[in-house]
Amino acid sequence: MKVFLPLALTLATASSYSLQLTGRTGRFASTRLMSTPTYSIPDQPARFAKAKVENNSRFLDIDSCYDPSYLSGKRVALTGANRGIGLSLAKELSAQGAKIVALVRKSSPELDALNPEEVITGIEATSDSACATLADKIKGGPVDVLINNAGYFYEPVEMISDSSLNFSEELKMIDICALGPLRVTSNLFQAGLIKEGCRVAMITSQGGSVSWRTTQNPSGGDYGHHMSKSAANMMGVLVSQEFRSKNIPVTILHPGFNKTEMTKKYEKIWEIEGAVDAAVGAKRVLHEVGLINMERTGKFINCEDGLEIPW
Ligand SMILES: NC(=O)c1ccc[n+]([C@@H]2O[C@H](COP(=O)([O-])OP(=O)(O)OC[C@H]3O[C@@H](n4cnc5c(N)ncnc54)[C@H](OP(=O)(O)O)[C@@H]3O)[C@@H](O)[C@H]2O)c1
Repeated sequence: MKVFLPLALTLATASSYSLQLTGRTGRFASTRLMSTPTYSIPDQPARFAKAKVENNSRFLDIDSCYDPSYLSGKRVALTGANRGIGLSLAKELSAQGAKIVALVRKSSPELDALNPEEVITGIEATSDSACATLADKIKGGPVDVLINNAGYFYEPVEMISDSSLNFSEELKMIDICALGPLRVTSNLFQAGLIKEGCRVAMITSQGGSVSWRTTQNPSGGDYGHHMSKSAANMMGVLVSQEFRSKNIPVTILHPGFNKTEMTKKYEKIWEIEGAVDAAVGAKRVLHEVGLINMERTGKFINCEDGLEIPW
């Protein structure tokens, strides 16, 4: 079948635009020009090496472009704020004059030292009833930003070949990483604590990208981790779709490779693969949170370089 392209389309470069054909007859039921994103690259050491060769300041020096002024006076709800990236986010939010609403299982001395506006404890991500208490426990009204950050990565590598699969841990990861943020987000929304204009960030992981598995897991493995983060990505996209008509933008964020308890098992490759202190990771995340808007809703962004990650 011969398809006649409108002149404007024949002039558009193939690399910049893709043409979507829809309709059962093969004729143009509708045409839409979509810009093709420049994707981040899956090979983590090569990505870091390329950033150094190119002297990529967005990647290597977040302070060169980070503008946190949008945070001043904003109420920011944050899960997992007691340690790791969450604690670093809380520290940076505090430094920028944001009002932290920490949603945690238990607090920590470091979190308490920040004097958050509210510390809501007992928020076990796997518990329907615990997450349902958010409506009563949060006293200060709607939040301007929600960052779903809490997560869990079972320590041992899981393989079929050496019988190291752990199905109960797999379900736990899916429960915490994918259902947890859905429980928190839905309870906050139902309670009127997320309203039009609120920015929602879902911290998932590059590990949730299916198309990057062939590069990052050439021998498979870590089933529960990757499945949980893929499920989290799916959750994030569906929430973004449901919230579209409510003008509540949702972005799915890979926070980058951060030196935390979670990645301690990869300590030997931290320097080779560009792992950063969580204080740097927090600024990268908050830089991307500052860019959340309805045009970017539903996108999956690598906070290391600001580029999209393919699903
Ligand atoms: N670090 C990285 O390089 C990296 C890379 C990609 C993605 N991520 C993602 O970034 C997020 C933060 O990671 P991190 O490195 O900061 O991890 P972390 O140091 O292990 O901290 C995990 C946080 O999640 C909370 N959490 C765990 N299980 C929970 C549960 N059942 N209910 C409620 N809260 C729970 C922990 O609270 P407790 O103290 O109560 O356990 C803690 O605050 C995670 O979603 C992780 O998957 C991290």
